[in-house]
Amino acid sequence: MNFLVTGGAGFIGSAVCRHLCANPAYRVTNLDKLTYAGNLASLRPIENAHNYRFEQADICDERAVLEILRRDDIDIVMNLAAESHVDRSIDGPGAFIETNIVGTYRILNAALEYWRGLSEERKPGFRFHHVSTDEVFGDLPFDGGMFVEETPYAPSSPYSASKAASDHLVRAWHETYGLPVVLSNCSNNYGPYHFPEKLIPLVILNALDEKPLPVYGAGANVRDWLFVEDHARALELVATKGQPGESYNVGGNSERTNLGVVETICGLLDLKRPRAGGKSYRDLITFVTDRPGHDRRYAIDAAKIARDLGWAPRENFDSGLARTVDWYLDNKWWWGPIREQRYDGERLGRGRVETRPAASAPIENAKSESSPTGSKAGSRKVAT
Ligand code: NAD
Ligand code: TYD
Repeated sequence: MNFLVTGGAGFIGSAVCRHLCANPAYRVTNLDKLTYAGNLASLRPIENAHNYRFEQADICDERAVLEILRRDDIDIVMNLAAESHVDRSIDGPGAFIETNIVGTYRILNAALEYWRGLSEERKPGFRFHHVSTDEVFGDLPFDGGMFVEETPYAPSSPYSASKAASDHLVRAWHETYGLPVVLSNCSNNYGPYHFPEKLIPLVILNALDEKPLPVYGAGANVRDWLFVEDHARALELVATKGQPGESYNVGGNSERTNLGVVETICGLLDLKRPRAGGKSYRDLITFVTDRPGHDRRYAIDAAKIARDLGWAPRENFDSGLARTVDWYLDNKWWWGPIREQRYDGERLGRGRVETRPAASAPIENAKSESSPTGSKAGSRKVAT
């Protein structure tokens, strides 16, 4: 079976490539533009594998994608290429519109032309798997509700709005043109090879550098965390066994407040790499101005993928986070050049930053307190 993985030099895409290449019956082509987030070092474990090849290309380049689909006789497209960081989408939404919306439109066109040219025997087996996020569902209240596949889309950030738009395009190409698509919407991933602009790797590396650990608002926002290798296994199942036209929610059943996540990392580092002088890394926690439009809570009901495809995560948050901290401690060769040359950890998504000591953090959370939008979850279909 021949896979085209787009965005395969990114965090999740590289985990998918490493996972798929372990199966000798698969051949994997990784198509990636190599933006600031793309890193071929993440493919080092498979770069010489007989069933892996890399192609630098842009998903917006319909002709290039079509040529690769034909050349490599692709059975399954897994579309992960995207601009993925909410804070960067606040500073510069244009790239998100271009890659996430226009790029998805272009790769859908390429896939449709390719699929129409397949033999009648091969057509039903072809899949276009679009990898999306739980953020398209928007803001949940702190006190209840979970996203199900039928929850209406209500994105809050330029990032999540661009992902929502792309999901709609993918569904439209199925309904209108019959392209066999599947979608998946996953919660926050974490694990090895995670670009250190995102909360977990940023906090690990800032702590090791004795820099402030920035917590937005009061740190009360809740995310559901999934170890990236569990996501990669879920994506393989959705791509190979998912029903055309269906979407699958994927989550780790591991809801944590941001402050809880940061404190847990500090506790692990206190044990594994104690600071000189015996202080805790917790002393580095710094509450900073909240993210505009910051969704309070995300929570995923993953019952459908468990029931229909037999998927369950193997890591819980404690085991996965310990593995992740160990990986960053052992793999400075990977993150050192990124921190030095690509992104050194400065605040994104806000412009001017105010900081204040932990003791004066606000009690209320952004969405209920300072957001102009307030709660949007009241009348929406969510599992309770
Ligand atoms: P990432 O930012 O780490 O990687 C994105 C990759 O896409 C990079 O290698 C980049 O070079 C490539 N890329 C960007 N624009 C491109 C273009 N125009 N053409 C070709 N390649 C391009 O992102 P990630 O965290 O690995 O996320 C992958 C996908 O999973 C995204 O679609 C994201 O929306 C989705 N997702 C992410 C999470 C998460 O927690 N990170 C959760 C759910 C879903
Ligand atoms: P992030 O890793 O950017 O993922 P996403 O915005 O896609 O959920 O952020 C995870 C949570 O952590 C989110 O609620 C914002 C918060 N956060 C901080 O508190 N401090 C930080 O420096 C960053 C990057 C994020």
